[in-house]
Formats: sequence, structure tokens, C-alpha cells
Amino acid sequence: MRVVISLGGSVLAPELDPDRVAAHADVIESLAAEGCELGVVVGGGGVAREYIGAARNLGANEVQLDQIGIDVTRINARLLISALGPGTRPTPATDYDEAGESLRRGDVTVMGGVMPGQTTDAVAAAFAEYIGADLLVYATGADGVYDSDPAMNDDARKFESMSPAELVDVIVPMSRDAGASAPVDLLAAKLIERSAMRSVVLDGNDPRRIKSAVLDGDHTGTDIIPDGSDEPTYWAQTV
Ligand code: UTP
Repeated sequence: MRVVISLGGSVLAPELDPDRVAAHADVIESLAAEGCELGVVVGGGGVAREYIGAARNLGANEVQLDQIGIDVTRINARLLISALGPGTRPTPATDYDEAGESLRRGDVTVMGGVMPGQTTDAVAAAFAEYIGADLLVYATGADGVYDSDPAMNDDARKFESMSPAELVDVIVPMSRDAGASAPVDLLAAKLIERSAMRSVVLDGNDPRRIKSAVLDGDHTGTDIIPDGSDEPTYWAQTV
């Protein structure tokens, strides 16, 4: 089973806590031991936002700001790699060809950002499409996809499951609304729709949730199920 996990920077390293990084690495290694081929895309979190904010005040342009963000995602990727054992690509992959090659060699492959103008949400979706993943997991600070931003609307309702087209429909208005924060960005949603990629959005703060979602389809987040695909228990059967 091929799985891409998108690990938000604020999930992996809200502050620099080696135990927290080690707990995520343990889950990744245990999934690899179960036979999963794993790609992990790491985000920049609060540290990226701080650097980007400071550089914006200093007059950097948007592409320069994105490059700074990408550098921070790669530092976080290196942090995770530090906690992973042998069988892991030793450096963050910088493009999909590189990432795909090291996955084919059997290495757990970690990467951060790739190019300006997007976030690691989109990188994870593109990586999953590139390797023909069976499952894409967004381990975020949000516990699923809501019909509106729960931070701005008390009546927001969480989807237990939805189609990729419904995901795009939910994300479009959120991405227009300056204050709202979408669980995955619009480009990622469109890539998921294009590739009909089975995906899960869940709260990744406790990494054990990622493991049970991958192995058993067991989680309290949102399943994104392309039309005609099997029920979540299918994941356990493919391992
Ligand atoms: P993130 O993927 O962490 O952005 O990339 P985010 O979604 O705002 O942060 P999380 O989900 O809270 O962790 C950090 C920044 O790096 C740049 C963007 O500026 C992004 O905001 N970036 C990242 C790119 O320009 N290209 C990429 O491929 C990835």
C-alpha cells in the first residue's frame, strides 16, 4: 500500500519538542514495518509564518517569501528525517522525480515545499498523484472538513465523508474569504479531484490517529471518497 502523509508544520513542531517529533517518526516507522510505502510532506507551521512576516516587513516580494517558506518546510523535513532510522532517504526530496525514485528504491521519502505559489497541501496531493498512492492523509490541526470555518461559525458542520468534487465546492468560498482558514488549500482539492485520490483529513496532533486511519480506516476526521471507490476497511486489507 502506498501512502502519502501531509504533516502540517504546526502538527510536527508547534515548538521544538524532540519527543513530539520522535512520536511522529515512530508512527511512520511502524507503518513502514507494516509494509506501507511512505511519502511524507512536511509543512512550515508557525516558524514559516514568522520568517515570512519578518521578511515581508523588510520588503521581500511574494516569490522571495515563498522561497523562505519552502526553506523552512525543508528544515522541518530534516528534523523529521533526524528522528527516522535507516530505510529513510537522508535528505528532503526537492522534486517529484527525486521523491518517486527514492520511494521506488524502498526508502521512506520525506519532502517539504517544491515551488513558489502554493503550499505543502498541494505538494502532498501532487506527490500522491505522481506515485499513484492508495491513500493521501492530511494530518492537520483541524479535525476534518467543515462546511464553513468552525473558528468563524459556531454552526459549522463536519463532513464524515464527501466526494472530491464536494471538497472543491467547500474550499472555493473559504479560499475567497480573507479570514477563513481552509483545512486544505484549493489547489490541493483540485488535484485530489483530478486524480480521484482517496484522502483523509484528520487531526494529526496525536500521531496514533494517523496510524489507525491508515491501517484500519479508523478516525474521526473526514473521508474524501472518489465515486465508485471501496469502503475505508479496504485499506487494512491491502496491507
Ligand atoms: P506550508 O505548506 O506550511 O503553508 O508552507 P501553510 O499551509 O500556510 O502552513 P501550515 O499548514 O500551517 O503548516 C509554508 C509556506 O511555504 C511556501 C508558502 O509561502 C507557504 O505559505 N511554500 C510551501 C511554497 O511557496 N511552495 C511550496 O511548494 C510549499
